Amino acid sequence: MKVFYFLFIAVCSTVDVYPQSKAIFIRRDSLLKAETTSFHPKNSNPFALVAGGSKGIGYAIAEALALRQYNLILVARHHTPLLEAKEKLENKYNIQVEIMSYDLSKRTSAAEISKWCIKNDIPLKMLCNVAGLGGTNDYLKVPLDTLYYMVNLNIESCMSLSLQLLPLLEKNAPSFILNVSSMAGFAPIPSKNMYSATKSAVTFFSYNLRHQLKKRNISVSCLHPGPVFTKPSIKADTKRRLGFIGMQMAVPPSRVGETAVRETLNGKMIIVPGTLAKITSGFTRIMPRGMLASIYGSLGEE
Ligand SMILES: NC(=O)c1ccc[n+]([C@@H]2O[C@H](COP(=O)([O-])OP(=O)(O)OC[C@H]3O[C@@H](n4cnc5c(N)ncnc54)[C@H](OP(=O)(O)O)[C@@H]3O)[C@@H](O)[C@H]2O)c1
Repeated sequence: MKVFYFLFIAVCSTVDVYPQSKAIFIRRDSLLKAETTSFHPKNSNPFALVAGGSKGIGYAIAEALALRQYNLILVARHHTPLLEAKEKLENKYNIQVEIMSYDLSKRTSAAEISKWCIKNDIPLKMLCNVAGLGGTNDYLKVPLDTLYYMVNLNIESCMSLSLQLLPLLEKNAPSFILNVSSMAGFAPIPSKNMYSATKSAVTFFSYNLRHQLKKRNISVSCLHPGPVFTKPSIKADTKRRLGFIGMQMAVPPSRVGETAVRETLNGKMIIVPGTLAKITSGFTRIMPRGMLASIYGSLGEE
């Protein structure tokens, strides 16, 4: 019993190590927008759109799709990592990669991206909503604007891209939507109030959407990663705060991407990469929410 409690606490803590990224403002002239992106199909492969696909888990998902000969549309804010991802994936997998620089926290972004995809009749088979904001700073600690940014990016962009790309996904069915939540989406975590709230919204949205789209032959899945070392800071924090067990629980980005894509294509709803994370998430999902909030709350604020 003590071992399970330890595992549980360990995973509780892992959701805190995902670092805070910032709302970044990019020079207008560095942006690659849908309206300036011309489309010339280079093969007849299906397409997947990865929102947040230039780095980290999103890039790993993109690579797992490229391995399966999916062409890609990658969306992120920064132009240079997008270009690097495009060149790497095109050269290694001989696929077509389109890139677009958008801040997905802005309401107009999903509309512009979807409009471009529909106008060019992209054979879209999969939408992956990956971009998200997490971190140790959350409600009561950050300005309201940061919280709006988190809500807009974590929930609104996922909700909005899914709806606006639905006509294409339906046209190219059987097709897939993969939403990225977190282990934090399974439990209320007072010190990560809005992060766990937004991620649980992504989880519930995915359950509901899966039911709604079943008859349209569109399968919806939801990924719940534990710690993934997408940046050196996550690894350092995990090691410092969780030691050996935390390091064992981490799953490399490439494995997260491969598991996510494989299980999405297999039609699985809840995807938790890694054995330890799977076991612990099983406990988290059956425990009373009030008890979880007390346990997480007693772990203390940073
Ligand atoms: N890493 C973990 O331990 C972990 C654990 C659980 C859940 N997750 C979830 O997994 C997802 C990805 O995490 P990650 O660690 O792979 O993140 P990451 O390495 O920071 O990559 C995030 C990707 O999203 C893009 N992005 C970020 N903000 C954006 C915005 N406003 N508009 C458009 N694109 C944006 C980034 O590119 P730009 O910066 O150029 O925009 C990048 O391509 C997130 O939803 C996160 O909550 C991560």
